[in-house]
Amino acid sequence: MYETREIKAHGHTVRVNVDPAPEREDRPALWPTVGEYPIYDQFLYSTMTTDQERNERFLAALAKLAPGRRVLDIGTGEDLLWARASLQTGARNALAVEVIEDAFHKAADTLTALDQHDQITLLRGESTALQFAPKADICVAEIIGSLAGAEGAAAVLTDARNRHLTPGGLVVPHRAVTLAAPVRLSTLLPGQPVAFAEASLPYLQAIFDWHGRPFDIRLRIEHPHTDALLGDGTPIEVLDFNGELRTEQRTTTRLTITQAGHVDGVLTWLNLWCLPDEEPLDALRMKTNWASIYLPLFGEPVPVTPGDVLELTVEVALSDDGIHPDYHLGATLHTTSGNKHHGSLTSPHHGGPFRAHPVYQALFPAA
Ligand SMILES: C[S@@+](CC[C@H](N)C(=O)[O-])C[C@H]1O[C@@H](n2cnc3c(N)ncnc32)[C@H](O)[C@@H]1O
Repeated sequence: MYETREIKAHGHTVRVNVDPAPEREDRPALWPTVGEYPIYDQFLYSTMTTDQERNERFLAALAKLAPGRRVLDIGTGEDLLWARASLQTGARNALAVEVIEDAFHKAADTLTALDQHDQITLLRGESTALQFAPKADICVAEIIGSLAGAEGAAAVLTDARNRHLTPGGLVVPHRAVTLAAPVRLSTLLPGQPVAFAEASLPYLQAIFDWHGRPFDIRLRIEHPHTDALLGDGTPIEVLDFNGELRTEQRTTTRLTITQAGHVDGVLTWLNLWCLPDEEPLDALRMKTNWASIYLPLFGEPVPVTPGDVLELTVEVALSDDGIHPDYHLGATLHTTSGNKHHGSLTSPHHGGPFRAHPVYQALFPAA
């Protein structure tokens, strides 16, 4: 069963349904998405510094590309992770940039204690607003979201390629793709209430505080029950960091239903390549800090049978901050019996409506 709690955000009282059961490894859990907001704390950084699946890939790429080079680490975090790894793998020097003030100060303390502190320059600010000289040969930036582009990687790394990298300079990671498959939200959390994990409430509050009011935040599903996927994953967003990198994109795809069930939205997850010719990290099937994101499309679950097709259009367009994208989805479910069901979602990075969709009306009950 869920419980209803109240949080306060800038004078707004928000009622939130919470699953009070303790979080366990591998138990599905519903959180707000967190990575695209400046609310990182030690817990969130530690989920990344201990992510072996992720870290091995970034390290392998740096071992190949960094020796003898000048490396720019965008979003170094409080641990200066990739700036330090670059030096350990033979980089000549590294420039580390962090926008969050508290993380920057912790990184500065970390730097003072390092033997190689004179080979790392640490700057505070947003890479898109800073000037660096000389330019870097390699840019490493782990600003990849569970919805791949949600943290602004396309805009930030387009700017890095244009202004901060030498001609022929390379970006790590190499490529990120968001996949989507048809699902029903309740089956991703079997036997559990559709409610936020208790531990996620401080983050929900921090995000609403940062924005100044509540909004329909994207829903992050940790350890989703993968039997709930009613079809294969299909790409809806492609980011080629060393190729044709688009800050805005539109994809139309057809998701074929392979199992009978009900559909009310799509589950999306990340595939990530740090080097071009490796097996990608698959956030749905590997143990990693990236989770999946559920995006609601239909007000009510629609019954489906194998052979039905969910035609999905995803438009990724920059929000008013010019960095973080908003996602606009339009869907038509074509059943084999000839019926059509239409659904849609606008999922802005910040702002937009509150309690617009039935799933948000249920998660944030009215007083
Ligand atoms: C996902 S965390 C990664 C932290 C660390 N690099 C790691 O891989 O464990 C992303 C970090 O990048 C920072 N960040 C995001 N965009 C940035 C930008 N354009 N300039 C500077 N910092 C940025 C965030 O504040 C956050 O600390």
